[in-house]
Amino acid sequence: MKKISLDYSKAIPFIKEQELGFMEDMVKLAHQKLHQREVPGSEYTGWLDLPQRVEQDEFKRIRETINRLSQKAEVLIVIGIGGSYLGAKSAIELLGHTYRNQMGQGMEVYFAGTNISSTYLADLLELVKDKEIAVNVISKSGTTLEPAIAFRVFRRMLEERYGEEGARGRIVATTDASKGALKQLAEEKGYETYVVPDDVGGRYSVLTPVGLLPIAAAGIDIEEVIDGAKAGIDLFSREALADNDCYCYAALRNILYNKGKSVELLTSYEPALSYFAEWWKQLFGESEGKEHKGLFPASANFSTDLHSLGQYIQDGRRNLFVTTMWAEEARRKVLVPDIADGDDGLDYLVDKELHYINEMACKGTIMAHSQGGVPNLKIEIPKLTPFYYGQLVYFFEKACAISGYLLGVNPYDQPGVEAYKKNMFNLLGKPE
Ligand code: PA5
Repeated sequence: MKKISLDYSKAIPFIKEQELGFMEDMVKLAHQKLHQREVPGSEYTGWLDLPQRVEQDEFKRIRETINRLSQKAEVLIVIGIGGSYLGAKSAIELLGHTYRNQMGQGMEVYFAGTNISSTYLADLLELVKDKEIAVNVISKSGTTLEPAIAFRVFRRMLEERYGEEGARGRIVATTDASKGALKQLAEEKGYETYVVPDDVGGRYSVLTPVGLLPIAAAGIDIEEVIDGAKAGIDLFSREALADNDCYCYAALRNILYNKGKSVELLTSYEPALSYFAEWWKQLFGESEGKEHKGLFPASANFSTDLHSLGQYIQDGRRNLFVTTMWAEEARRKVLVPDIADGDDGLDYLVDKELHYINEMACKGTIMAHSQGGVPNLKIEIPKLTPFYYGQLVYFFEKACAISGYLLGVNPYDQPGVEAYKKNMFNLLGKPE
């Protein structure tokens, strides 16, 4: 069976051969402490064996909820922010048709509560005004302002349209088991609820109902996603660096960080992976960016951004390294056509697959960047399927935990996120 793997040959010229070996003991220690739950934040390490704990009953219940909602509604509005939406959005973009909302694949899925833009919300309300809608509101704390406002707007819309009873049948809340304003509201109103496990933090929650319900609504096989993550547990829990590409990735990014690299640029050559990079940015940004430490996680879509950021990467400040996500096999094929008067200079490409041309763009770019002084790590994904999505999620979750411990931080808290909220609430006059 193929698997997610790491090629770090284009990082080797920038580190000393023995440096990875020096990390071996530290990685082993981080692994053992993590698996024995003897680490800072150990109460949030439920994600570690989560894929093995998802039971058939949970898949069944999610499928039943989606069947029930899709009998009444063609559109699902998913309301959440940060870890409460990025996983689902990344999966739907990575696995769905590029234009899935227009193509009738599963329910149409739109996201709200991911910002406070009136234009975004008004445009969405206009888009769905003549459609039958259902809502999945997701907030672990149940108190986050952005989704709370969006939910109030959609709740009023549903209650006006369908009455309180009708709205109840169209709203599903995913939240804490016992506390928070959303939990209380869901109980009062009698909404169907799903629980975000206590031991799983927001950015690690995609394989809980937080992600699984919207992913299933988009017609994606969530059992396959979980199977892929289970395979990830097996592959990425081996202690030795030589057997574990996930731990190698965690070690290498720390080696590069200690050599003065301050930015990791995650790139891909498939637009379908661009939201996955947003999920990754939250995972690593919130987990590692603390105590004035951590790599800044940035992303770019190639070859698109080679025409905007390419110059900087090749020639600008040498403070970054690139991690490339490469999907070995394309889901769909397009050939360069033969045309009668080949006067556009493209005849040398006739009958070549676009995926092959993309691959040459990827190879050429990695070569150029490493020659230009930019180390490159390449994560190879056999194909963009639900199985490999699950495996990729687990790869990065595990890498992030190990990398955070190598950096010496607690990867599960996010104290810095509160600062802007405090100011915003003061400015808005929120009562104590
Ligand atoms: O990873 C995290 O914990 C955060 O990014 C949260 O997911 C985000 O702030 C949303 O929080 P909540 O689900 O409580 O509304």
